[in-house]
Amino acid sequence: MKHYTHIKDLSDLKTTIKDAILLKMDPFKNQDIGKNKTLMMLFFNSSLRTRLSTEKAAKNLGMSVMTLDINNVWKLEFEDGSVMNMNSTEHIKEAAHVISQYADIIAIRAFPTLTDKKKDESELILKSFIKYATVPIVSMESATGHPLQSLTDAITISEFTEKRKPKVVLTWAPHPKALPQAVANSFIETMQLMDVDFTITHPKGYELNPEIVKDSNVTYNQNEALKDADFVYAKNWSSYNNYGQILNQDTNWKITKEKLGQAKFMHCLPVRRNVVVDDDVLDSDQSIVIQQANNRTFAAQIVLKNILEQL
Ligand code: CP
Repeated sequence: MKHYTHIKDLSDLKTTIKDAILLKMDPFKNQDIGKNKTLMMLFFNSSLRTRLSTEKAAKNLGMSVMTLDINNVWKLEFEDGSVMNMNSTEHIKEAAHVISQYADIIAIRAFPTLTDKKKDESELILKSFIKYATVPIVSMESATGHPLQSLTDAITISEFTEKRKPKVVLTWAPHPKALPQAVANSFIETMQLMDVDFTITHPKGYELNPEIVKDSNVTYNQNEALKDADFVYAKNWSSYNNYGQILNQDTNWKITKEKLGQAKFMHCLPVRRNVVVDDDVLDSDQSIVIQQANNRTFAAQIVLKNILEQL
């Protein structure tokens, strides 16, 4: 694996999940593999879990870590051939090449604009780093995907399932802000690779990219979707067709204890209490969001380990 920007960059998801669970049992076993190697983490956007868990993962492997909140440095230009006489100070061609001399792996977080669908779908920032950097690139959430989160989710479901083929439901939930589709996209793509009975539910108008959803089961009836679920994954996303718009804030889509039934509750976090999900769900033993967040470290660690092994 040279880069990790999509769940399909893993040659075998099932084996990767098993390896991540083994790493979790003995996280410092591979301290030599990252010796004298540096991870550079570049953040165009905020983070709590991704930032800390990826740093922890790298350090568990013996790597050094540098972190740059890139909006605090020179404004980067991404367009080829642009005349840089306005606000941009440094072109990605120089920046990516220079950063590659300081790091062995570059990890990047760059959210979508949610106003320019074409630009977001082009993954300009991530793809520019892949083009101009000379070291492997890891996505820490891009405009359209969050593959470290979805690998985490797959590990968590594998750890907690008591069935060979659990029923997993991805449900849209209300939120006051327009959020990216990235987490939902990657979760769908990952569930499509797993042996699960998978359903997506959302209000009308919140259909996701059909090239990602493919033939996954989708219903507008949340109660029907949640029936007999083993795992309920709640997430808000803004409209894909009316790009980046909030079309619905119907509180009836919030996850309650009654709706959850016997299922485990999952969310990538951060989560807005009593907007997305009730307190009594998050505070119950059925919520596995804390254990899920812990697995962020081991998802990142198995990805970094696989890349380091091929350097
Ligand atoms: N789930 C997740 O990516 O969390 P952060 O945005 O805090 O990194």
